[in-house]
Amino acid sequence: MYEFNLPKNFLFGTATSSVQTEGGDTNNTWYKWCVEGHIKDSSNCINANDHWNRIDEDVNILKNLNVQVHRISLEWSRIEPSEGVFSDEAINHYKYEIKKLLENNIRPLITLHHFSEPIWFHNIGSWENPKCTEIFLEYVRFTVENLGHLVSEWITFNEPNVYTVLGYGVGLWPPGKKGILTSLRIYTKFIKTHIEAYKLIHLIRRKNDFKDSTQVGCAMHIRIFEGKTILTKIIASLSNYIFNELLIVGTTTGKLKYPLQKKGYNVVKGKYVDFMALNYYTKILVEFTFNLSTVFYKEGNDKTLDQTELGWDIYPQGLYTICKKYYERFKLPIYITENGISDKTDLKRPDFILSHISNVAKAIKDGIPIKRYYYWTLIDNFEWLEGETTNFGLIEYDFKTLQRKARKSVEIYREICKHKKFTKEMYKKFFRDKINI
Ligand code: BGC
Repeated sequence: MYEFNLPKNFLFGTATSSVQTEGGDTNNTWYKWCVEGHIKDSSNCINANDHWNRIDEDVNILKNLNVQVHRISLEWSRIEPSEGVFSDEAINHYKYEIKKLLENNIRPLITLHHFSEPIWFHNIGSWENPKCTEIFLEYVRFTVENLGHLVSEWITFNEPNVYTVLGYGVGLWPPGKKGILTSLRIYTKFIKTHIEAYKLIHLIRRKNDFKDSTQVGCAMHIRIFEGKTILTKIIASLSNYIFNELLIVGTTTGKLKYPLQKKGYNVVKGKYVDFMALNYYTKILVEFTFNLSTVFYKEGNDKTLDQTELGWDIYPQGLYTICKKYYERFKLPIYITENGISDKTDLKRPDFILSHISNVAKAIKDGIPIKRYYYWTLIDNFEWLEGETTNFGLIEYDFKTLQRKARKSVEIYREICKHKKFTKEMYKKFFRDKINI
């Protein structure tokens, strides 16, 4: 049984992204990727949760969930439908959504780039275009100038490591490129663009005297890589270096670590995030494979752990480990900007949530300043290559009827959000019928 008691100023919330929830946009790279037939169940993000047309309904769900914070992303392709042309209609739509959240005392955390881009950006070479940083900054400028009076908390990029590895390393995601050297070049572009965006967001909010102190981060997907033999330990530590280390150090401090190329990079070392935004899901048990193109890396499972329905190891202690590690390195407050489980039956989700938050509570007791926890995600949504087949939502979703239906976990999470604790009494109330906990 889990028991925890978090500080009263700790904030709970949920996280979502535009392509995965909004529906209706044909101008982004994921729509194109769907039409080209890359999605396993042949579904298309044009449907998603129809969230674009259901802001009121979904904000109401959030309100009933008692969350204090909510993370969304903006769709660049809607805000800038063609290069240099900005849409008042799209920005007004987001203004409406953000105001709705604020009216309900839910503080928004806004991501500017969550894996998707306008097709026109793709057509001019995306992140390989020498002007990519300037192009992205124009979108940032327009957005922050228009929304910066309502929003003080921003995330520049969601998981640039996942995006680069899948989109430029192994070619499974748009833009479908394959190559280690290109990936490393893209890493440098992301670091540089994040830092320029960080400075620009601060500048615009300061110049305009917008209220509340500006907080900017870059959400990193952090995985724990573990090896059991000397060989797999080496591969695990290399994977950690390439997947976690290069980008977290670069975006946080501006330092480019070997083998990232310094050509054209003129950033002075400093501090370029106001909080560490960590997304955490699982631990990977690294196995050896005779495959040079994957750098001999293969993902296995730790047989001593339980797995999610996607086969991901459930390893809650890992959340404690990464928070401790990155706090000791960077001494910055931490937001858990994503943590969640795909679980249609909802039998494992309560335990997943409770065990992970217990580790957050333990870390706070040990002096690590974790300030927020955002559960991924509110409603089952469009899960990239997996399409409509996963179930990360606190709310179950029927892709045909568009109906939303609360899972049992909603009852538990809403109480945690409200009281910031989990007690014996709550346990008795929720687990009378004995979910294995
Ligand atoms: C991504 C989400 C995704 C989730 C579950 C995260 O890495 O940011 O977009 O849905 O993982 O796979």
